[in-house]
Amino acid sequence: MNLPPIDLRSLPQVLRAMPKAELHIHIEGSLEPEMIFALARRNKVNLPYSSVEALRQAYAFTDLQSFLDIYYAGASVLLKEQDFYDMAWAYFEKAARDSVIHAELFFDPQTHTSRGVEMGTVIQGLARACRDARSQLGLSASLILCFLRHLSEDEAFATLEQALPWREHFIGVGLDSSEVGHPPEKFARIFKRCGDLGLRRVAHAGEEGPPAYIHAALDLLGAERIDHGVQATRDRALMQRLADRRVPLTVCPLSNIKLCVYPHLEQHSLGQLLDAGIVATINSDDPAYFGGYINDNFVQTFGALKLQASQAYTLARNSFEASFIETSVRSNLIARLDQFFEELRN
Ligand code: HPA
Ligand code: ZN
Repeated sequence: MNLPPIDLRSLPQVLRAMPKAELHIHIEGSLEPEMIFALARRNKVNLPYSSVEALRQAYAFTDLQSFLDIYYAGASVLLKEQDFYDMAWAYFEKAARDSVIHAELFFDPQTHTSRGVEMGTVIQGLARACRDARSQLGLSASLILCFLRHLSEDEAFATLEQALPWREHFIGVGLDSSEVGHPPEKFARIFKRCGDLGLRRVAHAGEEGPPAYIHAALDLLGAERIDHGVQATRDRALMQRLADRRVPLTVCPLSNIKLCVYPHLEQHSLGQLLDAGIVATINSDDPAYFGGYINDNFVQTFGALKLQASQAYTLARNSFEASFIETSVRSNLIARLDQFFEELRN
């Protein structure tokens, strides 16, 4: 799209107001410390932190694993269907304020079923919030069930079996948790089964792990989107492959800084990925832990990398292109985006 020059001072407003989709958000990563403490009180769960401030102070991560240890501890307060609803609803209210009009949410059932929470409790609470997001906020939302890759293939198969009675409530499966040492091939058979069931497939790859994990996620898991994928810049042939096949990457810049994938936002590879013609998107990952929701990711990344209005349009358009919405709905969402940018000319 041919865009008029946008005053640099008004670019943050454009980024905040433009319609967008969020495709990489772990709903358990949207649990703010205040809600963790409120749910702990409600459910009489003991936390190893004395206050909201003490918990926040623990958010000084050195890598993915140091974050995951605290993230799983935070999720231990979720017990009832209403807890899952309240968590997702709080996210949807914030997302709607960030002009998110479509969201695909990851959830980690094994984090809950391992504590004795029923699969139905998790899925029904989240699914009810998704329905209310559509009817009350005009935000379409769907769920993607993630397998924890530090656990076994057998446990992933058992999790899928437990979830199948609620098949209509989730559109696909993903793969998350500790990446290095748990390569995609460990989950090739379960992803094949999910593909046969008509589930969409995505996988975290190339967050901390090597470019070979991205190749393997495509070749062995049938991944249609790669979550993170930022290590692709280390492999020129892979960059070409991603661009040629229009494999989307769901990039999470503030996450990458908080988990020390890059020392500073100024060094982030997002600009390089866009320049290579890769269908990159901006997302928040675990916003309560990484210092910002999707608009914070947009505004800070644009500031640090000196990105322009045309890249704002590209990123928002990519978010709809990369989403798993039905084709006719996708065209409507892209039309809303085009209209938004058309109005900037007037
Ligand atoms: N990477 C892997 N697993 C995760 C993440 C992440 O950024 N967030 C929540 N689970
Ligand atoms: Zn993630």
